[in-house]
Amino acid sequence: MIETVTEDVGRPSQGTLVRGGARRSDAATASAERALLERDRHIRGAVARWHFAMLNDGERSASYELALATFLRPNMHVLDIGCGSGLLGMLAAKHGASRVTSCEVVPEIAEVARRIVGSNGFADRVVVVPKPSTSLSVAADLPRRADLLVTEIIDCGLVGEGIMPTLRHAREHLLAEGGSIIPRAATVYATLIESAPIHELNLVGSSRGVDVRLFNELSSRLYFPVRSHTWPYRFLSPAATAFEVDFLRDPLEPTTREVSFTVKQSGTCHAIMFWFDLELAPGVSLRNQPGDQKTHWMQAVQCVEHAFDVRAGEALTLTVLQTDSALRFATH
Ligand SMILES: C[S@@+](CC[C@H](N)C(=O)[O-])C[C@H]1O[C@@H](n2cnc3c(N)ncnc32)[C@H](O)[C@@H]1O
Repeated sequence: MIETVTEDVGRPSQGTLVRGGARRSDAATASAERALLERDRHIRGAVARWHFAMLNDGERSASYELALATFLRPNMHVLDIGCGSGLLGMLAAKHGASRVTSCEVVPEIAEVARRIVGSNGFADRVVVVPKPSTSLSVAADLPRRADLLVTEIIDCGLVGEGIMPTLRHAREHLLAEGGSIIPRAATVYATLIESAPIHELNLVGSSRGVDVRLFNELSSRLYFPVRSHTWPYRFLSPAATAFEVDFLRDPLEPTTREVSFTVKQSGTCHAIMFWFDLELAPGVSLRNQPGDQKTHWMQAVQCVEHAFDVRAGEALTLTVLQTDSALRFATH
């Protein structure tokens, strides 16, 4: 960014010293700061900060690259849904895809992706389309249906970024007969935890003698991300399978299932913590289980509205409701 520098009028209190000893007027400084603030507000509204942590997650990139290399065959057309920086599409091209269509719903991200693709010398094979996948059509946006679909629209609770409806649509309209999908499948594991500090991320009582419990009307009923190792907590049950999906074969429609937890430690249940195991290709997987400090994904936590006591040996069965954008454990 080019800074506006005014003449040095010898009044240090009214200007900001910039490189070279010149002074910028307070008005110019304020205006530059306002512009910077506006720019940041806009960018941070449009582009989530986790993009950076995600791109720096080396295991994630390496696993996706390995999966792409496993599936790619000569002359394949790859569809990269939610391309972000364009990374996965470029890795597909690196491993031999003859054509990659990379779509991205956020215009600011799509524009940068287009430039990244160009600067890495992939513009002849990777085409960035600034659209949501559900608006793509064969012929207008893709030369033909894709042989391989790759996507990483996966949040800490697996389904929160809309992978289920996105793949449902893509399988029907964009993927060729016999085509493959990365990721292939996923399993979500869940456990009951005791942790008053985690519960307090979503629950208040009083502060300085003031009763603020009504604020709990604003608490979340759904899961949110928690970096579990930064909080004290105790598992009350072993992990149970809460949800399983085969992205290529299952209907990917909303489902309901029961999950049974066997309590191993008596205590107070404050929340359900869950995480995924994502199978990208045979023998290639990614997960965000508690205690893993390397993955950029946090763990998903759904706090129970009212903490309840559990006793070792008892079984607790909860209903898991999977919708197009959430997994929710019905606790009553
Ligand atoms: C988690 S990021 C992954 C980015 C990139 N694929 C990577 O792995 O580095 C997901 C991106 O997908 C975009 N996105 C989510 N759903 C989409 C959809 N249905 N069509 C196009 N873009 C989508 C989001 O805006 C976001 O930039």
